[in-house]
Amino acid sequence: MINSISEKLRAARKVVFVTGAGISQESGIPTFRGKDGMWRNYDAMKLATIEAFYDDPKLVWEWYNERRHNIFAAEPNLGHKAIAELEKYSEVVILTQNIDGLHQRAGSSQVLELHGSIVKIKCTVCDFKDEMYSEFSENPPLCTCGNILRPDVVWFGEGLPQDVWQKAIIHANNCDVMIIAGTSLVVSPANTLPIYAKQNDATLIEINPDNTIMTEDMDLSIRSTSAIALPELVSIFK
Ligand code: APR
Repeated sequence: MINSISEKLRAARKVVFVTGAGISQESGIPTFRGKDGMWRNYDAMKLATIEAFYDDPKLVWEWYNERRHNIFAAEPNLGHKAIAELEKYSEVVILTQNIDGLHQRAGSSQVLELHGSIVKIKCTVCDFKDEMYSEFSENPPLCTCGNILRPDVVWFGEGLPQDVWQKAIIHANNCDVMIIAGTSLVVSPANTLPIYAKQNDATLIEINPDNTIMTEDMDLSIRSTSAIALPELVSIFK
């Protein structure tokens, strides 16, 4: 089994990664579900909504400010770095649900951010968008149109940026290998990407200490953390 997977890896012309919060866990950034999924006494799932933001903009803004602080202080780990190194041996595209930018900071060149980015902000009403690298002010600032600005991330109940999503589907459809690392695969539509790959005969590999809802569809499940498993997996390509 492992031998035949190794052969497929070495022969792969294009490898697509689908990543989630777990890949940044070893950089000190909490995941969303399980024991990490609380911020103070708030459920992260409930804070990441437009309803929560309109209800208490200052609170949600403060949550994002704290996350920005953690993310800016964090460093890419061995998992992010292994993926970046793989570009020496194969075409690599990363479809990430993370907003932390750590793949790019590790040196990966083709990263599609499905759920937006921690450095981006946008107006709640007009088309204004910007990037912000400093600490946030205490309250969300106002746009020149007079409405409040919000993080430019995808909250529950919101659609993905369509240009990014369309490209993600194309990459998922035409990869030889898809490596799914650090995601529970419970959030749609990102969790449909492995299905596109499978339908096109790609080899599916999952890296996660726990089972996921798609474990049975995987060609190989590696029950380890991404900072341990990814450098080992990438060494097979060399
Ligand atoms: N290495 C690999 N996987 C890990 C590690 C690790 N060190 N630590 C935890 N994991 C796994 C967990 O077992 C879990 O399956 O990472 C997964 C993290 O799952 P979630 O917290 O659900 O994160 P994610 O899948 O990225 O969530 C998707 O939900 O809240 C929204 O928009 C948010 O992008 C996020 C989306």
